[in-house]
Amino acid sequence: MGFAELWDALLPLGRDAATGGYRRYSFTKADMACREWFASAAAQRGMRASTDRNGNLWAWWDVPGGLGGQAAGPGSPSAAPGAAIVTGSHLDSVPDGGAFDGPLGVVSAFAAIDQLRTRGFTPVRPVAVAAFCEEEGARFGLACLGSRLLTGAVQPAAARELRDGDGVTLAEAMAGAGLDPDGLGADEELLASVGAVVELHIEQGSALDGLGAAVGIAEGIWPHGRWRLDFTGRADHAGTTRLADRRDPMLPFAAAVLEARQAASAHGALATFGKVAAVPGAANAISSAVTAWLDARAPDQSALDRTVGQIEAAARRAADVQGVEVGVRRESFTPPVEFDPALRARLAAALAAQGMQAPVLPTGAGHDAGVLAARLPSAMLFVRNPTGVSHSPAEHAEPADCEAGVAALAAVLAELAGR
Ligand code: GLV
Ligand code: MN
Ligand code: MN
Repeated sequence: MGFAELWDALLPLGRDAATGGYRRYSFTKADMACREWFASAAAQRGMRASTDRNGNLWAWWDVPGGLGGQAAGPGSPSAAPGAAIVTGSHLDSVPDGGAFDGPLGVVSAFAAIDQLRTRGFTPVRPVAVAAFCEEEGARFGLACLGSRLLTGAVQPAAARELRDGDGVTLAEAMAGAGLDPDGLGADEELLASVGAVVELHIEQGSALDGLGAAVGIAEGIWPHGRWRLDFTGRADHAGTTRLADRRDPMLPFAAAVLEARQAASAHGALATFGKVAAVPGAANAISSAVTAWLDARAPDQSALDRTVGQIEAAARRAADVQGVEVGVRRESFTPPVEFDPALRARLAAALAAQGMQAPVLPTGAGHDAGVLAARLPSAMLFVRNPTGVSHSPAEHAEPADCEAGVAALAAVLAELAGR
């Protein structure tokens, strides 16, 4: 069994027929279908599958006979501390996301294990494939929710109360999926059993293409976050309300959007308003409220702070002029991440031994490996994306590059789990 078979089985799940994009939101029908796909991929390989207390999926390739004669792998009380090697990524998507962001890492993980087994490789450490829950934050607004809960970076009580666009809480959605929301929280036993994490992911940029390389190694992740801006004005008639009498929340929102571009450009950052909701949303009425989400990322903390500060100041200034109230709340934040230098060096050496030269790249994209890096030695492999497009149905990687990614991951797992 290989990459293509796994990939083809996953491909139709949660794809919107009209856009060709994916809508795999946590605990929806599409997500549950992806979870079943994961369970069946594990079962086909005789891997022990489980869902952890935070809704993350795990499939374990246990060490034959156990470590030192003991059964191995979390969930088993005798798992040797720090032994396990974890790979994988996520299966959820942004609205109308591409096929590769997340799934490529999960499919490649199973395919790399197939390759190692075909070669007769026997691990001396347990290897786990993980699929982390709500990585994109598309349903509950907090990116990397599953890995943040696992590592204790978010409090379970706050997480339980997160709501989706229809007002459904995470606790309700989990319960609806047959999971116990009271179990949410840091899983120290699981964390203690892991020695290293390697997430493979499609590159969300075209640096590898420019360098002529199929596979790269991540250096680190820019600090980034999401801010929610609530502009509250007064609903009124579009055809009769004099301009001077309006309290239109759309105007300070527009000022914030324009400032986002200016500030990002001034500070070498990225700032995006990709989601906005106007209430009540009538073409012939001034809105009573506008809620918008700012995604901002920068190479360092100071550039990020200055970018967001400048946008917030512009929003407040414009709101003042228009008689509009504005509230700004940070919904999620990930500090700068530098992936473990020693682990990166082992990845580079394992790839070089296969004749693969893997360039080292920073990224502005968030990943579970970046969250896990706060607690565990973590690293990432990137697979070439010829156009660089991501978070879009147009996202693409060539089959040959996906195969190169699987070969690279197999080499890395052989290095990490082989001694
Ligand atoms: C995850 O894809 C992110 O960087 O938003
Ligand atoms: Mn993504
Ligand atoms: Mn991703």
